Amino acid sequence: MTPVPVPADEPPKKRSAADFIFGKVIGEGSFSTVYLAKDIHTNKEFAIKVLEKLHIKKERKLAYVTREKEVLLRLASWNELFVKLYCTFQDVDRLYFVLTYAKNGDLLTHIKHLSLECVRFYAAEIIMALERLNIKKIIHRDLKPENILLDENWHVLLTDFGSAKIVKDEIEQEECGENSKRRNSFVGTAQYVTPEVLTDGNVSFASDLWALGCVIYQMVCGTAPFQAGSEYLIFKKILDLEYSFPEDFDSRARNLVEQLLVINPHERLGSCDVKPYTSIREHQFFSKINWHNLGKPPKIC
Ligand code: ADE
Repeated sequence: MTPVPVPADEPPKKRSAADFIFGKVIGEGSFSTVYLAKDIHTNKEFAIKVLEKLHIKKERKLAYVTREKEVLLRLASWNELFVKLYCTFQDVDRLYFVLTYAKNGDLLTHIKHLSLECVRFYAAEIIMALERLNIKKIIHRDLKPENILLDENWHVLLTDFGSAKIVKDEIEQEECGENSKRRNSFVGTAQYVTPEVLTDGNVSFASDLWALGCVIYQMVCGTAPFQAGSEYLIFKKILDLEYSFPEDFDSRARNLVEQLLVINPHERLGSCDVKPYTSIREHQFFSKINWHNLGKPPKIC
């Protein structure tokens, strides 16, 4: 009997681990391992995130896993800028998330080789992704070059929503019995963490704008702005806004970074936009960008 052909990009039907051939490890986190895997029915490649149930239970991280799934489902209507969650399944020991495989790896791998034109393009795509997150009331909280993947056509796909927060409006918060002033403990990565997380613990959409400033800085000069020998010393530098620009740092990019790396989250560029993030789009650094059509990514050298 001839098998019924399955259209190439149709999402898989209900699957189990037996429907995939698992290949190399392409990502590792504290609670998960990501494998490159091939669907045996369609030959299509996916990235499968595998989480050990016992580990999640022991470390009390179930809420993070549930949140990640909820966020990915909220974003599923957009086929671009975010990894897509095709399906989830589980067996006795593990949970599985079947995700888009980003063929060109993460931005960190390429970050030392970006022309200014590339920086502008990738910054623009990241801003568009943050605009969409804002529309969907999602704060990423762990934006960093490792979580910015590049698809087969070199376009951005944001990933890793395990630290994300879904902002509930006040009525929802009351219904959930949540105190709207509840503090958020440190989640994320030391080098990109925002000052407000280190002081009052209040995260907002502006927290992702701080991380955006760090990523743009790193795309221009190859290293993160706040570096030191320990987490404690990195935190100290962040709170003191202690960083500097190399002499050859592009002046417009520098002005943009300076307006994003601002201690007071309300004063960060974009944080008060009625329509996020028009003030960032209008910054001089992006004067060559056509926001209605970013076009093809420039070549990474
Ligand atoms: N590393 C982690 N997640 C990945 C993905 N979805 N594609 C490629 N590499 C990854």
